[in-house]
Amino acid sequence: MCGIIGYTGTQDAVPILVGGLTSLEYRGYDSAGVALASDDGIKIVKSKGRIENLSKRLYDTGYHAPCGIGHTRWATHGEPSDKNAHPHSTENLSLVHNGIIENYDELQERLKSLGYTFVSETDTEAAVKLIDLYYRESGDPVKAMFSAAAEIRGSFAFGVVFEKAPDTIYAMRKDSPLIVAMSECGGLIASDIPAILPYTNNYFRLEEEVLAVLTKDSVSFVGKNGESLTQPEETVSWSVGEAQKSGYPHFMLKEIFEEPEAIRKTVTPRLVNGLPDFSMLDKDIGRIHIVACGTAMHAGLVGKTMIERLARLPVNVEIASEFRYRDPILDKKDLVVLLSQSGETADTLAALRHSKACGVKTLAIVNVIGSSVAREADHVIYTMAGPEIAVASTKAYSVQCAIVSLLAIRLAFDCGKLDESEAKRLTALLINEVPAAVATVLKKSEEIGKIAKNYTEGAEHLFYIGRGADSDLCTEASLKLKEISYIHSEAYAAGELKHGTISLVTEGVPVVALLTEHKLAEKMISGIREVKSRGAHTLAIATERIKDEFTVPCDDMIVVPKIDPLFEMFPAITVLQLFAYHASATRGLDVDKPRNLAKSVTVE
Ligand code: AGP
Repeated sequence: MCGIIGYTGTQDAVPILVGGLTSLEYRGYDSAGVALASDDGIKIVKSKGRIENLSKRLYDTGYHAPCGIGHTRWATHGEPSDKNAHPHSTENLSLVHNGIIENYDELQERLKSLGYTFVSETDTEAAVKLIDLYYRESGDPVKAMFSAAAEIRGSFAFGVVFEKAPDTIYAMRKDSPLIVAMSECGGLIASDIPAILPYTNNYFRLEEEVLAVLTKDSVSFVGKNGESLTQPEETVSWSVGEAQKSGYPHFMLKEIFEEPEAIRKTVTPRLVNGLPDFSMLDKDIGRIHIVACGTAMHAGLVGKTMIERLARLPVNVEIASEFRYRDPILDKKDLVVLLSQSGETADTLAALRHSKACGVKTLAIVNVIGSSVAREADHVIYTMAGPEIAVASTKAYSVQCAIVSLLAIRLAFDCGKLDESEAKRLTALLINEVPAAVATVLKKSEEIGKIAKNYTEGAEHLFYIGRGADSDLCTEASLKLKEISYIHSEAYAAGELKHGTISLVTEGVPVVALLTEHKLAEKMISGIREVKSRGAHTLAIATERIKDEFTVPCDDMIVVPKIDPLFEMFPAITVLQLFAYHASATRGLDVDKPRNLAKSVTVE
């Protein structure tokens, strides 16, 4: 959500800023802009819409500079427009911002009374003018930024250039991600790693209450009393190639194809003597609460099903944005599990902080190493999906489902519901059979594409139905389809449909029925008959076992390979993701960057 890039060095900042913004596009944006700083002053170029618009404008100006900051804006305060796009400026400085200044109207009133005028509808303008106020007083960028930060409520990552120090970038953050790096050609700041990868693999994750000062050959860190600080340098384990499409038409498709490897890489490091290792957790856990947003929350539903099924322990799954405000009942012995791909989701982070404040132990299951959720939780387990660039989360969901399944096996073993040999057998299946079954499904991508086209071409609504774990999967399948194909869809527990929603099922309405739950196959078949008799166009996604044993009354069927029934949901997940992918791609939509969405939702 919003992307920040900054560069100061020996090269022309223009292509570096444009390239950096392009690599951050996946975060979601609706306008973009840059500030170029040189001895000739600061020049601003902004544009509503795509980075191509900005890039064209920028190259038309012929501007070049050795230092600059760039921004992709995802509108929160004020419509997407040139005027609201960042950077925002005064005659002394220009600033880019990710986050929300919650007390901006209060600050604005005060600044107006001091003679400042406001030209945009953004919350950010209050920040730039507040820094300006303190800069006029002290003439010191560092003091000015700390003084302003002390008065700002909300979240921010700032990149700032000052007229009088045109070769220097100042950066600080609170509750919004920002990294800092020193490369051979100069210093960089960025919202995320892909933007710095062409220049270096080493970076600093900027701490809160620390200000970074970057010049062409140095980066220094300063505390709020002006003291100089050291920060630990980290190294990215993945390469530029991993953050590129590598011949796939879209990141989403590439990422779905990475699932078998991602599952293996996630599960393998968690094994000790063939058993899942979660030794960091207390043995005597009270209730388990899984808290997350969107797709990660849907993986939490799979976790609930698995843990309750195998370990017979009750699990509460909650949307983080609700959890944080509803005063949840938490006991000191409880465990709150935060699931997040990015580890920067504002609501998930707030839920984590709330849980900690209640004295409850927290476990983060996160994909991005060193992210805020990972750092603040009592314990962290990393999923090893590698960079996920497409806004629609796919491989991250699959690995989250794998890790919560592994946790379920361990909890079941610990409480005596699974003996050692059965726990080892299930664990081995998760590293071997599951990725193999997913790989088999990937070979059917083209076939799934044709079916997806047939079911979604011209469709305005679509239903997903399933029972048991399939009902969990339907919620995710529906979200995936909605977010990238813009087809309205609903996920329904098949038995619930007839309690109202079946009134929407009329001639030709597509219904995707999921059948991986063998013991519920007959009930599902009745559900399919119910919608079919109302004219639904029915696609079944069924296991080989169900196809062989039952007559499924559907128009089409996609068969998923036979593995242990507990895990047959995994290849089905991949089918559903490919279905959504092809539905979007055949409509010619921007699969990786769907409208209005951001990859990492760093504001409430
Ligand atoms: C999934 O396709 C979405 N883009 C979204 O629901 C996402 O899963 C959610 O915002 C949570 O993100 P996180 O996993 O990074 O916390």
